[in-house]
Amino acid sequence: MSNSTFKLEEMDIKLDTEYIGTNFIFYDELNSTNEKLLTDDSIKQHGTVLLTENQFVGRGRMGRKWISEKDLSLTFSILLTENVDAKNINIVNLGASLAVAKSLENLYQLDVNLKWPNDVLISNRKVAGILVESITKGDRFEKVVVGIGINVNQPAFEGKLLIPPTSVRKEFGKPVKRERVLSEVLNEFESTFNQIKTDPQRVLDSWRSRCNWIGEKVKVINGSDETVGLFDDIDSDGFLLLQQKDGIKKIVNGDVTLRKT
Ligand code: BTN
Repeated sequence: MSNSTFKLEEMDIKLDTEYIGTNFIFYDELNSTNEKLLTDDSIKQHGTVLLTENQFVGRGRMGRKWISEKDLSLTFSILLTENVDAKNINIVNLGASLAVAKSLENLYQLDVNLKWPNDVLISNRKVAGILVESITKGDRFEKVVVGIGINVNQPAFEGKLLIPPTSVRKEFGKPVKRERVLSEVLNEFESTFNQIKTDPQRVLDSWRSRCNWIGEKVKVINGSDETVGLFDDIDSDGFLLLQQKDGIKKIVNGDVTLRKT
């Protein structure tokens, strides 16, 4: 069961959404699910989900690469073309990580933590990553693509990564069904996205309750720029508020690490 091919019918049975995944596209192989949804103008339907088993040029945050493993990972992107208010784009980013966290809690009772802005961690190891990319026209989002990579059934990992990786299988103790993980994430994503429209602050509270770095000393790295301070909170747009000697600095992008001294 651990490395079986993805069975669409098994995902479908548990999918309980109105628009996320209603249009479902599967590619055996592809450069990047994010790139495909951003560039293929024939794919327009709000909520379209594109899944691939073999992603050659997986894009990660801050220009990094994302490595998925055929038949063991979940590698997919969600296309949003409606109801994406520019002021909520960063909440969508955090909300996607929240949806993944809730899904793994619901299905496997795992203790999942979130690292700003959208890393999904278990025992300080990364189980999933999210990359949100968009195309704008004037002051409006034409397309927002939420790309999600989840380490599901990998038994082990090779090489050294910025954050040590883990998989659902390693944390849960046995292989799980990828179809079930995907349906749950899509269900949770739809309800989170709906809630962002009606009550975004509740989504942020839910995110906060899973982030155990708030109140800690952190270092934020953005290219060659390093900023240190106390992780005070996230603001009402989901940006990081860093307490420094001379006041609060708002951080909109970067990699956050715990500061030891
Ligand atoms: C990160 O750096 O943590 C974000 C990783 C995001 C990877 C996913 S896999 C599906 C989608 N397609 C991509 O090319 N990237 C995202």
